[in-house]
Amino acid sequence: MRVLITGGTNGMGKGLARALASDKGSHEIIILCRSKERGLSTIEELEVLGHNHKISFVECDLMKLKDVKRAVNKIKATYDYLDAVFINAGVGYAPKRLVSEDGMMAHFQVNYLSQFILTLNVLDLLEESKAGGRIVFNATRTGKINWDDLQLDHKWSYEEGIHQSMVAKRMFLNKLDKIYNQREKKVSFIGFEISKIVWTNQINIIPFYMKVMSRIMKLFGSFISIDTCGSILLPLFIEEWEASLKRSGSFITWKKGQFEKLEEEDFVLDDVNQNRLWDISLDLSKDEVTRQVSQRLHDLDQA
Ligand SMILES: NC(=O)c1ccc[n+]([C@@H]2O[C@H](COP(=O)([O-])OP(=O)(O)OC[C@H]3O[C@@H](n4cnc5c(N)ncnc54)[C@H](OP(=O)(O)O)[C@@H]3O)[C@@H](O)[C@H]2O)c1
Repeated sequence: MRVLITGGTNGMGKGLARALASDKGSHEIIILCRSKERGLSTIEELEVLGHNHKISFVECDLMKLKDVKRAVNKIKATYDYLDAVFINAGVGYAPKRLVSEDGMMAHFQVNYLSQFILTLNVLDLLEESKAGGRIVFNATRTGKINWDDLQLDHKWSYEEGIHQSMVAKRMFLNKLDKIYNQREKKVSFIGFEISKIVWTNQINIIPFYMKVMSRIMKLFGSFISIDTCGSILLPLFIEEWEASLKRSGSFITWKKGQFEKLEEEDFVLDDVNQNRLWDISLDLSKDEVTRQVSQRLHDLDQA
C-alpha cells in the first residue's frame, strides 16, 4: 500500500509509519513533515525496521497555506495514485494562542484547514488506487464548532482549539462519505478515536506539573506506546477494500481487541452545518484549484 501520513515524524503518525515499515506486506510510506531534518531522521529510523519498503517525505509546514499548495503540487507531480492517507498531524499543547502568517489560529489551520485542502486535492489520486482508496481521520469525540469565533479570538484555550478541529474533521469526513457514497469510484472515509492516551512527543512539550501527572498516570497503565497505537491503526490501512468501504462514514474506536462504532452526534451529521463549514473552509483556503475540486464534487453530488 502507498500511504501518505501527515505528522509521521512523531507520535501517533510515527506509530503508524513504524507499523507499516515493520509489516511483511510491501508498503510505500510518504511522510508529510515540516522539517527536512526530521524527515530524514524518520526515514533512517523506519528503514531499519523492515525490508522492501520505499520511504520518502514531502516537506510541508501545515501552518502555511503556501506550503500546503506547494506540497500538493509535489505530491501530484510525483505520484499517480495513493492507496491511503492518515489525516493526523496536529498541534496539541500550546502555552498561548499562535497565529499563522495567513491570519489563522494554529489549531484551526494545522489540525483542520490545511488538511481539508490537502484531502480535497488528493482525492483524485485515491480514486486511482487499485487497492481501494481510503482516508483515516484522527479524531476525538469531544468538542463543538464556535461559529461566531472559529479562530477563538475571544476565548482561547488549547483544549478548545484541539476539540473544535476534531469536530470539524468529523463533519468533513461525513460529508465526503455522503458525496462518494453515490459514486462509482469509491473512496472510504473513516474517523478514528484512540481509546487510550498515547505517550507521544506531547509529553516533552507540556508544562512540568503535567509531565509529573503523566508519569504517575503511566504507572497506572493509562498510556499506550506509539507502537501499540500503530499496531491498532494498521488494519485500517491495509484491510481489503470491501471491509474499508463498510466502515466509511463511521466514527470508530478500538476496544477489547476490536473496532467498535461510536454514536455520531446529530450536529456533526447535519447537512446544513457540514455545508456551512465547507463553504467557510473553501473561502479561507483562498485557492482556486481547491475551489474547482469542490465544484467537481458538488456537481457529482447534485447529479
Ligand atoms: N496523544 C494522544 O493520546 C492523542 C489522542 C487522541 C488524538 N490525538 C491527536 O493525534 C494527533 C497527533 O498527536 P500526537 O499526540 O501524536 O502528537 P505529537 O507526538 O506531538 O505529533 C504531532 C505530529 O504532528 C506534526 N505537526 C505539528 N505541527 C505541524 C505543522 N505545522 N506542520 C506539519 N506537521 C506538524 C508533528 O511534527 P514535528 O515532529 O515536526 O513536531 C508531529 O509529527 C493530534 O491531532 C492529536 O490531537 C492524540
